[in-house]
Amino acid sequence: MSNSLRIAIAGLGTVGAGTVQVLTEHRDLIAQRSGRPVDIIAVSAKSRTKDRGVSLETYDWYDDPVAMAREADVELVVELIGGEDGPAKAVCEAAIAAGRHVVTANKALVAMHGGALAAAAEAAGVSLNYEAAIAGGIPIVKALREGLAGNAVTRVYGILNGTCNYILTEMREERLSYETVLADAQQLGYAEAEPSVDVDGIDAAHKLALLASLAFGTKVNFAGVYTEGIRKVALEDIDYAEEFGYRIKLLGSARMTEHGLEQRVYPCMVSKSAPIAHVEGAYNAVVAHGDFVDDTLYQGRGAGAGPTASAVVADIVDVARGFSVSTFGVPVGQLTDVEAAPIERHRGAYYIRLMVSDEPGVIAAVTAVFRDEGVSIGSMLQRARSQTEAVPVVLNTHECEEAAMRRTLERIEALDSVVEEPTMIRIESLI
Ligand SMILES: NC(=O)c1ccc[n+]([C@@H]2O[C@H](COP(=O)([O-])OP(=O)(O)OC[C@H]3O[C@@H](n4cnc5c(N)ncnc54)[C@H](OP(=O)(O)O)[C@@H]3O)[C@@H](O)[C@H]2O)c1
Repeated sequence: MSNSLRIAIAGLGTVGAGTVQVLTEHRDLIAQRSGRPVDIIAVSAKSRTKDRGVSLETYDWYDDPVAMAREADVELVVELIGGEDGPAKAVCEAAIAAGRHVVTANKALVAMHGGALAAAAEAAGVSLNYEAAIAGGIPIVKALREGLAGNAVTRVYGILNGTCNYILTEMREERLSYETVLADAQQLGYAEAEPSVDVDGIDAAHKLALLASLAFGTKVNFAGVYTEGIRKVALEDIDYAEEFGYRIKLLGSARMTEHGLEQRVYPCMVSKSAPIAHVEGAYNAVVAHGDFVDDTLYQGRGAGAGPTASAVVADIVDVARGFSVSTFGVPVGQLTDVEAAPIERHRGAYYIRLMVSDEPGVIAAVTAVFRDEGVSIGSMLQRARSQTEAVPVVLNTHECEEAAMRRTLERIEALDSVVEEPTMIRIESLI
């Protein structure tokens, strides 16, 4: 067997320790598949004494991961520290500058600095691989870059954040509020103490920006992702969605339109007949539509030591095999710069929930605004009357432009009989 691939690992947390475990337990299998063994030479983390459940005795220890990336006698550096700047970025830059391949699981870093890092890697003749950065264990980077290489991809969408999908699933199944499920998830370690990166859709937006670049050959444009999180999703809306034949999912969706590249992350209603509606709990799923292949669906665990390390090791094996593909599927210089399609030009149907005072003429006033703005109502539901409290009026619209929907809601909110800010959830067509 030829010379081993010598690697260094920066970061020995959930994913780093998982990667050491996979490389150790499957050493022979990986050697067989790669044509040569993969040897961990050096590692770095903050604490040298922490028990990580794996033996690190035979590896060189570095307190400074950047020095390791620069100095260790390795061909490849694995960055598993995390964070869009700081040591993670410095490790990748130092490794590339020293002519070493880089594997990372860091979606924030690649979403913010992927273009510059890919250009540097290309100039240095090394690979920059990040399979684990999108949807954890699901091999979606390989699917888009390699498996679908013969297709023009017309749309890519998916459930890209396991924490949000877990919260929405628990809310529906256990009939609990967002706040209760989030608190439980934090206690169980499924959600961070500071959950905003997940629940505000930022993590999903990082991943979507990468998916869009891979799918359409465009420059990564994280700033161009329209992002809404799940904080405002109420249990009533989940119940009404069921009644109307939908499930609420935090979806990331990208497609090329006449108005530019549409990149959106928001909670939306998807038909219960769509396979993605049944992806529950902490699972992730991605659908990529290619012009020749049609819809392809990928589902699996989007996080956790095993699934994420599985993807990291796949990238390491590529390097061991001598297999290399451009970071975003085409050389950096050929990635195109496309305008972001404004959300106001989005076209689709909408679910609207209003809380109104129960008095004569309210419905007439509401429907008059819809009529004036040219937004056509598909169905309307008014729940039981109450003498004292506001009552919900729930309606679905036919397809219209978002700008018209927003104008409609602004005017409706200003009506005296409407007592709360209206809830608006997009109904996503998955065709
Ligand atoms: N966890 C997942 O399920 C998952 C899934 C997909 C992608 N990812 C990505 O994978 C990456 C790692 O995530 P993780 O969950 O494994 O994080 P983690 O458990 O917090 O581990 C981070 C590691 O980095 C080390 N570290 C932090 N600052 C350092 C520094 N200045 N110098 C050297 N080492 C330093 C920490 O050292 P100590 O252990 O000594 O504190 C720790 O070992 C992130 O980019 C994340 O977005 C994670």
